[in-house]
Amino acid sequence: MTPLPESQPDPGFEPLSDAFADDPYPTYARLRDHGAPWYFAGYDIWLLSRYEDVAAAAVHPACVRSPEAVMTPDEIAAQQVRDNWHNMPHHSRFVQFSLLNADGEVHQRLRRMIFNEFRTPSLQRLHAQTQVHVDRLIDTVIDAGAMDFIEDFAARVPGPVIGAFLGVPEEDCAPLRQWSDDIVQYFDIDRSDARKALAEKTTTEFYDYLLRLSDERRRRPQDDLISRLIARYDAGDLTEDAYISTCMLILMAGHGSTIDILGNGLAALFAHPDEQQRLSAGPSLMTTAVQEMFRYDAPLPFFHRFAAADFDLNGWHIRKGTKLGLLYGCANRDEAVFAHADCFDAGRAPNRHIAFASGPHVCLGNHLARMELDIVFSTLLRRLKDIAPAGESVRRRGLSVRGFEALPIAFRAA
Ligand code: HEM
Repeated sequence: MTPLPESQPDPGFEPLSDAFADDPYPTYARLRDHGAPWYFAGYDIWLLSRYEDVAAAAVHPACVRSPEAVMTPDEIAAQQVRDNWHNMPHHSRFVQFSLLNADGEVHQRLRRMIFNEFRTPSLQRLHAQTQVHVDRLIDTVIDAGAMDFIEDFAARVPGPVIGAFLGVPEEDCAPLRQWSDDIVQYFDIDRSDARKALAEKTTTEFYDYLLRLSDERRRRPQDDLISRLIARYDAGDLTEDAYISTCMLILMAGHGSTIDILGNGLAALFAHPDEQQRLSAGPSLMTTAVQEMFRYDAPLPFFHRFAAADFDLNGWHIRKGTKLGLLYGCANRDEAVFAHADCFDAGRAPNRHIAFASGPHVCLGNHLARMELDIVFSTLLRRLKDIAPAGESVRRRGLSVRGFEALPIAFRAA
């Protein structure tokens, strides 16, 4: 087996640059062409870029999320300081710890507790509600003939949907977007003190809100996920940290990512007018088109793993303790798996993309996310016509998220 290489070409990997935000795919292609895992010193991480390597690491039992398998508590504390993740009492209890960051038995137990909530019957109940919500949003913009697709539309989609899924009343959903944004952004590589203070303050506000909502549900339980979780907490099946972090994870995991994929999906259609036309003419393609949106421009392109033991990955020898970066968004453009990978194909099938990961941490919300996209794009294409870009769009910067700050569009009522 080959050890990880000591010297490497420079692929010009600058994930905080504007050029990377505008179009990371040429950089991703250079990483894939290099073939070997590539060491990114800025993050002390080995990046996996080829589909076969990323997919293999995502399912490999030696690849874990939590540093506990590879570091002593003192080493973790020192690492927290280096990453500026320390002295964040609420953030460390409810965000740095969650089922997403747990492994083995702890992870399976938490995941099993909520798994059934994400199955089709629960989602069918949400379908009609989501359709009404999306139609109302379109009612608010349809006469204007132009809007910023992100601010005026996409940003308003997921809050009430995930809120209804968990049991947050509609009138309380407004701050959810800002809360998840402030917290999730701290997972990216900008770890400034200002961002840190904001992430901790926001986590504290979010925690206080969830405590108030929990008291309310304790007094008057409803047929919702939060009422079922609070009953498990009160029965001693969940610690407070596990209870709150699970609620926060559900409310945050599908928030910014849904806004981002809505923008990425629309921009993909703009970049491929024939495919936009094909989808307008044949809405039965929507299921494959939505999968293709996730493959073509994944909104959560990067997650990490730690090697909990020495192991071999497609010929590379990975030593215990190595931190690996799984570039899902890069793997999804690998020509070895996807023909014409840089082209958007609304009818692509099969489509083995890994925008929702695979293995033990595969996204629980993937059916919900795809349902939302299906409803949004079907409704947009039915109720609006001549949808086109109408000004300069602005991309978000960062490695962990990919989306737009602004995406101005024009349209006419159909
Ligand atoms: C909209 C687009 C979405 C994308 C692209 C996405 C992507 C992902 C990915 C890649 C992971 C695995 C992370 C890893 O490999 O370490 C994940 C995990 C997860 N996602 Fe999503 N997600 C989306 C929406 C949602 C929604 C709507 C929800 C819930 C309402 C959700 C809930 C979760 C949860 C709970 C986990 C943790 C699963 C575990 O660790 O076992 N996601 N998601």
